Amino acid sequence: MTKLSVNVNKIAWLRNARGGNLPNLVKMSQDCEIFGAQGITVHPRPDERHIKYADVPLIKEIVTTEYNIEGYPNPDFMKLVIENQPDQCTLVPDPPNVLTSNTGWDTIKNESLLKDIISELQSHNIRVSLFVNPEQKMIEGAKRVGAERIELYTGDYANQFHSNKEQAIAPFITSANFANNIEIGINAGHDLNLDNLKYFKENINGLLEVSIGHALISDALYFGLRNTIQMYLQQLV
Ligand code: PXP
Repeated sequence: MTKLSVNVNKIAWLRNARGGNLPNLVKMSQDCEIFGAQGITVHPRPDERHIKYADVPLIKEIVTTEYNIEGYPNPDFMKLVIENQPDQCTLVPDPPNVLTSNTGWDTIKNESLLKDIISELQSHNIRVSLFVNPEQKMIEGAKRVGAERIELYTGDYANQFHSNKEQAIAPFITSANFANNIEIGINAGHDLNLDNLKYFKENINGLLEVSIGHALISDALYFGLRNTIQMYLQQLV
């Protein structure tokens, strides 16, 4: 089974546009679960342009499925994660002002940093996933530094999907087979949507979780949140 974790950053971003509490992020996160989401993801960034650090414990209180906090492991982020005890922490290598995550970790160059951070998170019973590109040596590196899972960066897959989906999926099939062989769990995310998700799911063995934000929240403007979550779940059966 592949879990759908809804990334609620865009809901926070809309709320922040007016400075009040509309839409209500906590209520909408709760509703995502009621409508079928099997996880909630937040990605607090240092400038707090969407999820604010203060949102993280409020969402923690209502999540009954799986709470995933993702971000770059600077000291503030590490403190936030440890205080809030999510089920999973997904580490991304983003520089502070990047618009959105656009590449995975170099798990070889950052081996000692990642080892220390991962063992600290795991000592608090938090599962760690590392955002990586679909490259065997980066996945091997993720295993070596002790991550339980990888999150495959699917931006390149999504970009190429309409021009050549067989070519777009090829490195992900190879990477997933490799990850399964070395027994590291597989998540995926970025730019997944109602066009490209089903084909991804059908081709990737052992896909444990997808985290989806931008397209899902955009689709909800047309179809409503309940319908949209059901439509995404349908792609994953
Ligand atoms: N995974 C990671 C590591 C991300 O940074 C993001 C975007 O915040 C996502 C998944 C979700 O991507 P999208 O918003 O394109 O669905």
